[in-house]
Amino acid sequence: EKGSFRHFMEKEVHEQPESCQRTFSAYLDPVAQSVRADIKAGIDFSKITRLQIIACGTAYYAGSIARYAFEKIAGLPVDVEVASEFRYRTPAMTPGTLAIAVSQSGETADTLAALRWCKDQGLMTAAVVNVHTSTMAREADLLWPTHAGPEIGVASTKAFTAQLSALLSLVVCAAAQRGRITKAQEAHYVQTLLESPGLIAEALGMNADIVRMTYELSKARDVIYLGRGDMYPLALEGALKLKEISYIHAEGYAAGELKHGPIALIDEKTPVVVIAPDDDLFEKTASNVQEVAARGGRVIMITNVPGKVPTLSGDAAKSLKVIKAPDCDPFIAALVYSVPIQLLAYHTAVHKGTDVDQPRNLAKSVTVE
Ligand code: F6R
Repeated sequence: EKGSFRHFMEKEVHEQPESCQRTFSAYLDPVAQSVRADIKAGIDFSKITRLQIIACGTAYYAGSIARYAFEKIAGLPVDVEVASEFRYRTPAMTPGTLAIAVSQSGETADTLAALRWCKDQGLMTAAVVNVHTSTMAREADLLWPTHAGPEIGVASTKAFTAQLSALLSLVVCAAAQRGRITKAQEAHYVQTLLESPGLIAEALGMNADIVRMTYELSKARDVIYLGRGDMYPLALEGALKLKEISYIHAEGYAAGELKHGPIALIDEKTPVVVIAPDDDLFEKTASNVQEVAARGGRVIMITNVPGKVPTLSGDAAKSLKVIKAPDCDPFIAALVYSVPIQLLAYHTAVHKGTDVDQPRNLAKSVTVE
């Protein structure tokens, strides 16, 4: 039941400290400060040469975020593809590839077909699923469950962050098994992951600021989301969430792509949401903010370092709004910044008065293609 919340989506957004914590408990050992022994016993990432992640929609963005970490921290090459393309294009697979289907329901027709195709090719398969009795859970060689609990809202929120929690835990497992990190580094990554539920709870405190900002957003016809690194797929997820529940047209772009086309869209009527945590790429993203503001664009910047946001003058300064996010390690930024992204979509939809939990034309589980 919804309790004191207006919608299941709102409730599920607020459940994320617990749902991520539950998921981490299945993968991480807080006493040993390592990946759990049963997880390590189930897979040997040192024998794996490549990951092929296949998923649809929000699950695809979770896989896309995980890709950055698998490559950077575990040195493991990763391909990520939407299942509907993958299954029909005869991809060339290499031996030693582990295919990972990511799915809340475990029943999505395209993802299931892609998983079956990989199995037929003789590849090892794994399923990161929230419904543990689902078809994908049964058919994959390896089951990596998420523990979000039942997700009622059609727009995925807590299942998404549970997927990130599981996948980032597996990144640490892979990095350890592949000899990319020391025991001490493994302990550090595990500790960082285990701190994220607390930071997600802190991020929920951004709610009031976001309510204020979304009134204006709800009047927009188009919204652009920008991010760099793993904030780029999070920008895509932000745009998807807004489209799904507010019916406002939204597009996510890699911030560096701005000048290769999308900058032509910038005007005073098109809000630009910039996701910019304090990491190696912050300065680059901040310069994109200046480019947008200089062209009259209205920027909503989500960052933990508001003090580092470029000072703008005149109208540009007035059009810049900054939402302060909690400080966090870049390794878990996608988890923490998921919260403001979800709240932005949620409150915009509430201002518009749409049916948040049952958006038009959408189904919770897409079992036909
Ligand atoms: C977005 C959303 C969809 C699903 C997609 C995959 O909010 O809910 O994009 O993520 O249909 O569904 P699952 O994860 O069940 O395979």
